Amino acid sequence: MKALILAGGKGTRLRPLTVYTPKPIVPVLNRPFLEYQIEILKRAGIEDITLSLSYQPDKIEHVLGFGEQLGVSLHYVTESQPMGTGGAYKLAAKDFEEPTIVLNGDVLTDLIVAKLIKRHQRSGAKATIVLAPVEDPSLYGLVETDQDGNVRAFKEKPKADAVEDSGPSLINAGIYVLEREILDLIPENENYSFEYNVFPEILNRGISFGAFVLENEYWRDIGTPETYLQAHMDFISGKVRHFPIDREEEFDRATSTFIDRNSVIDAECVIKPNVTITNSVLGKGVVVEEHSMIENSVIWSHSRISNSAKISGAILARSCYVGKNCVITPGAVLGNKSTLTDYTKI
Ligand code: GDD
Ligand code: MG
Repeated sequence: MKALILAGGKGTRLRPLTVYTPKPIVPVLNRPFLEYQIEILKRAGIEDITLSLSYQPDKIEHVLGFGEQLGVSLHYVTESQPMGTGGAYKLAAKDFEEPTIVLNGDVLTDLIVAKLIKRHQRSGAKATIVLAPVEDPSLYGLVETDQDGNVRAFKEKPKADAVEDSGPSLINAGIYVLEREILDLIPENENYSFEYNVFPEILNRGISFGAFVLENEYWRDIGTPETYLQAHMDFISGKVRHFPIDREEEFDRATSTFIDRNSVIDAECVIKPNVTITNSVLGKGVVVEEHSMIENSVIWSHSRISNSAKISGAILARSCYVGKNCVITPGAVLGNKSTLTDYTKI
């Protein structure tokens, strides 16, 4: 089994975080996001992983390299222009001689991939799609299954009136196992979409299309600031399993500070006296001055928080400067090198 991670989208909904950092490598708990996907693939014995890139490919290659540090072998296929999800698969996988597990490069999950592969192989289906239950399917691909658990209908980003309002819906979790025959449904060198073209075509032709429904597994698309922040909150409160959190980093902490057990502080941070940090993640080398308060927030590396600032429910990208007595309220998202003058309120 080969693996392909679709990592070429522009990450527009995650701006400004993705202006300088492509979505596949935004830090999640201070690690480039794709490392989590690579890890679950590796646990299933899949070590040959191709990344399909389009937006800022050099940055991704620079961070992940050939994968040797992660114990896998990474290959890159870069599109000169975005080919769409299906087109990207055709371009990257056309010469693969084995079936492929394809992942959207922005879903955080603790799925045990070996279970999915086993189910796919036992079912004999030509394609198996992972489904997640959500309350509002309008942002996703809505999937209907039949009595045998096979896919019966697929509707990408359904309008509200196409959705039954009784209880959670099953949506496309952005993880597929595809036999080689699926490649034949996709034209070469054309922008083509799994969601709008390939899946409807599989159903039209009556090709066997199985589903694997997530039950206790964690799943979230990290592609908006709200879901990116929520993924952190879920992670530090223990909802994401199988990825141990390293809370042992060496940082400089004054004695009269309060840092709760959920928070994760990376190496080389400096936390001055009378600071309170709860439910938050700080990247490498963040400095927090006296009497500041940080809660429910994610702060990327090398930012500086001046004294008596209050940051709540916010995301700060790299190397931000927050002046003294600033108040940052829930929903704020600051791009790299943002500077807030003393006493700013946002
Ligand atoms: N290589 C490449 N080329 N990758 C692409 C391209 C492309 O042209 N377009 C998108 N991608 C990658 C993105 O980088 C992302 O990792 C993944 O494909 C999905 O794109 P998104 O833009 O994040 O799609 P979405 O979140 O709106 O919807 C998709 O994911 C949902 C689950 O999170 C769909 O697959 C939905 O059906 C699904 O429910
Ligand atoms: Mg997405």
